[in-house]
Amino acid sequence: MPCPALPEGFDFTDPDVYRTRVPLPEFAQLRQTAPVWWNAQPHGIAGFGDDGYWVVTRHQDVKEVSTKPDLFSASRNTSIIRFNASMTREQIDVQKLIMLNMDPPEHTRVRQIVQRGFTPRAIRGLEDALRRRAAHIVDEARRGGTGDFVTDIACELPLQAIAELIGIPQDDRARIFDWSNKMVAYDDPELAITEEVGANAAMELISYAMNLAAARKECPAEDIVSRLVAAEHEGNLGSDEFGFFVLLLAVAGNETTRNAITHGMHAFLTHPDQWELFKRERPATAAEEIVRWATPVVSFQRTATQDTELGGAKIKEGQRVGIFYSSANHDPEVFTDPGVFDITRDPNPHLGFGGGGPHFCLGKSLAVLEINLIFNALADALPDITLAGDPRRLRSAWLNGVKELRVHYG
Ligand code: HEM
Repeated sequence: MPCPALPEGFDFTDPDVYRTRVPLPEFAQLRQTAPVWWNAQPHGIAGFGDDGYWVVTRHQDVKEVSTKPDLFSASRNTSIIRFNASMTREQIDVQKLIMLNMDPPEHTRVRQIVQRGFTPRAIRGLEDALRRRAAHIVDEARRGGTGDFVTDIACELPLQAIAELIGIPQDDRARIFDWSNKMVAYDDPELAITEEVGANAAMELISYAMNLAAARKECPAEDIVSRLVAAEHEGNLGSDEFGFFVLLLAVAGNETTRNAITHGMHAFLTHPDQWELFKRERPATAAEEIVRWATPVVSFQRTATQDTELGGAKIKEGQRVGIFYSSANHDPEVFTDPGVFDITRDPNPHLGFGGGGPHFCLGKSLAVLEINLIFNALADALPDITLAGDPRRLRSAWLNGVKELRVHYG
């Protein structure tokens, strides 16, 4: 279906678009005129050897695709909507070893096991340690006067939370942090992380986690690794499966939460009434609004397993379907004044953590806890923080990322 107002060749996964902005006005046009729209691409540009994908823009349709894994596969072409054109099919298929890119029944088996590490009790158990860490991170930044909010504050708690959750020994944390950072930035030339450096970091992280799993199998301890791998029976992860799970946590839990925190700070500093309100009342609804506002994951994809219809469009078996959480989170059918940053918004059925299907974010409660802890620490210790520059955005095809945000710590 044509969408006349979009410039010829416009692509909702073009990394250069996201270097300056998330295309919210273009999403709004599609929601109104062609809610499920075919975005043609030059052959093979996304790494899949095809000519484009469907852009799903409405809240209800993103939910529908997310909750029908039989019809919309996360595995056929993975959940990642764009790789580099130079990726081989073999390199893409390796990604199916992480659960984000699995379908039932394999996904169901892995998800049931790893869920044990993310029970409300397990997350509550981290709260005191993370509160102390949040206070410490903010305190360290305060000494700096002016600095980069992303590296000083937003990066730190997510990394520490995952290390804490997995029980990574303190001495090994610097290496884990380094590998995690190298893995997520290959689309942005300025960061000078080549694909090879990123791939090597991933291999090193996987092999570190496999060794940790093997050691805990030999000699179980009171931590999540032992719980997920220790006993040798069907309900446990093998060491290699654990390695890929840690890899996913390092990517899924770091970059996302870091960007939610950075966008949240920027939103507060550009909406001072909301910052004042937060400092005064600390509403529990703030973290969810920050995630809706930021929508750190712009999109994931599925692949149709048979011919089907969605939002008036006829989708063919084998075609890719992009689910655009950023668009769903601004759908006026669901959100009153979606362009308003309102930390008391309630209810807030945003899809920032996914559309509610089997892949719904495993780390949601941890992420919400981290966001709450860091903004409470900031409101306590740095109430007068102000902006010292515009955010510098990450070049990425599907992440709403900020790589630098200069602030005065006050
Ligand atoms: C604000 C922060 C976060 C955002 C916006 C976010 C967003 C998402 C989204 C959109 C998905 C895919 C949902 C779907 O396909 O239906 C997802 C999956 C996932 N997330 Fe998160 N996430 C965040 C934080 C975290 C954290 C802190 C962790 C863990 C430490 C985590 C672990 C995962 C895992 C393991 C999956 C894959 C689940 C599966 O395939 O079954 N996420 N997340």
